[in-house]
Amino acid sequence: MPIELGLPIRRTNIDDVRRVVARMSVDEVESKATPASEERSPANDPVVDEPSRWRVEAARALGLSGDELCAGTSTSLAMPAILDPAIETLDLAPRGPVVDLGGGLASTSDWLRRRTGREVVIVEPSAPSCEMAAEMFENVGVINGAAGVLPVRTSSVASVVLNGVASLIDDLKLALFEFERALIADGLVIITDVVATRTVGSFRSSKNVLRTLDEFAEQLAEAGFDVVETDTVAADRGWWSSVQHSVDEQIAANYADRPGFPMWDHDRRRMKYLVNAGIVTGGYVIARSPQQTARAIS
Ligand SMILES: C[S@@+](CC[C@H](N)C(=O)[O-])C[C@H]1O[C@@H](n2cnc3c(N)ncnc32)[C@H](O)[C@@H]1O
Repeated sequence: MPIELGLPIRRTNIDDVRRVVARMSVDEVESKATPASEERSPANDPVVDEPSRWRVEAARALGLSGDELCAGTSTSLAMPAILDPAIETLDLAPRGPVVDLGGGLASTSDWLRRRTGREVVIVEPSAPSCEMAAEMFENVGVINGAAGVLPVRTSSVASVVLNGVASLIDDLKLALFEFERALIADGLVIITDVVATRTVGSFRSSKNVLRTLDEFAEQLAEAGFDVVETDTVAADRGWWSSVQHSVDEQIAANYADRPGFPMWDHDRRRMKYLVNAGIVTGGYVIARSPQQTARAIS
């Protein structure tokens, strides 16, 4: 049964947005919003925020809504198939709020919310993205924050989902430690991302740390998580990527003269090359949180 948050947000200033979304989010998710600047993150970085704004404007210009709006505002690979295992697992997982960490424009959150009936809240370091997400997807909760210090109470979250985000987190160990604090017993960490294939091994490319699935599984196991499932998912060439492509074309046609455009264009071409060359692919890891007893002792 979806919990309708009904955020009354339209165009407003970001401080108002932060206050309103914090008030409207569920009891279990308490806003002690981490100033994103305390952590290495792209918060308020024009290189990240400008392309997100172009994406929103392009999606609006194309008149996208519903599932197509989710696709058009998403930059993730292998969508939506990469989320199918997460949707199946969430069906059987303990009840409670799902945190979509690095939720960006809330596309993944809205997709998951409508397919699982779960309450989904994004925790996103970029304040402008929080504002745009709240405007576009009114039934998703929005909190400004980042991986290192989640703005939620201890043992309050049923699942933490990271779609296209783990590859932007350098210190995954630290983040896993924080997820353990936030999760309830048997809570889930669901990582869906671009992953390096076994043959090349983990490597760094630009701002991404491209890990193999084995490395993700090892780090989760070392942190005490029980790895339930892991697999690769081929980059999708279906309707979702067609909508993403239309939005990219719209951006290329309208924003090519903007200072951030060359870097945006370079990044998307680089990713396309890595996928086509078989160096990276889509992948997911689902893991269960350590037992409460272990947490109580530590
Ligand atoms: C590729 S986008 C993915 C957005 C969204 N998850 C989706 O599927 O559409 C990466 C997002 O991760 C966020 N991010 C980057 N570093 C982060 C961190 N340390 N903690 C949380 N989010 C982070 C960025 O602000 C951005 O919104």
